[in-house]
Amino acid sequence: MKKLTAVVMAGVLAAAALTGCGGSSSSSAASEAGSAAGSSAASEAGSTAGSSAAAGSSAAPEAAGSFTTVEDGVLTMATNAYFPPYEYYEGEDVIGIDVEIAQAVADKLGLTLKVEDMEFDSIITAVQGGKADMGLAGMTITEERKKNVSFSDSYATGVQVVIVKEDSEITTPDDLAGGKKIGVQLGTTGDTYASDTPENGGYGEENVEQYSKGADAVMALVQGKVDAVIIDNEPAKSFVESNEGLKILETEYVNEDYAAAVSKENEALLTAINGALGELKADGTIQSILDKYISAN
Ligand code: ARG
Repeated sequence: MKKLTAVVMAGVLAAAALTGCGGSSSSSAASEAGSAAGSSAASEAGSTAGSSAAAGSSAAPEAAGSFTTVEDGVLTMATNAYFPPYEYYEGEDVIGIDVEIAQAVADKLGLTLKVEDMEFDSIITAVQGGKADMGLAGMTITEERKKNVSFSDSYATGVQVVIVKEDSEITTPDDLAGGKKIGVQLGTTGDTYASDTPENGGYGEENVEQYSKGADAVMALVQGKVDAVIIDNEPAKSFVESNEGLKILETEYVNEDYAAAVSKENEALLTAINGALGELKADGTIQSILDKYISAN
């Protein structure tokens, strides 16, 4: 595990200590929660609270008065909705932890939430290009991304883990070295770490297969096209649940912090989002959203 330590030390991310995650699953909790969370958050017109209230209403944090959004009165969230339990489809609705947090932030700011589903590697471009107000997608804070967007305060932590077949000879991340084929979702931190050179703790890009969705990488694993998948722990649990014969290695790969990505040009919106997140943390809302989708173990 020396190499991995090196990755973390390199400051690719703010290494946050994270409590352990076992193998127990969360998808049933998530789908129960989904029906409660879903439709209003996902549809642009359906949002209940606050849609007509002006920004800067009494419920809003102090800095909320001066920000602008892409569309007046609307908070547009760019995401990639194939990442349970953070964002995923239930019927036509996008639901999950990030959607509920975004809805709660929008409510605080007196905005209507609009969710835009796109490729994960388009989210930062959408935020930079004024197509979305924030990227909220289980997105890890990295130094590289900070060159292009600002990150809010972190609202959750994640861990990169390794999924293999149950009978795999791979038992630790070190066993991935030496030519094993690794599946990742394109543009994710799992992709970045795995594609890096062995000297930097990676496995070499020639050994990495990039897929546009995490689920496609997992499918490739099931079909024997790759030997392992590196992905965030909660989606990993969900994918292992829904596919026979897979398991998650106990050794964790890298710890990460998730945050909202906001345009560098919209400092006022970032301040407002941080104000809302701070209140939602303090009053327990964020923790209860996390608990609703992630089973304690
Ligand atoms: N945490 C990882 C990253 O930031 C993966 C996020 C993938 N999110 C998604 N909605 N598909 O790169």
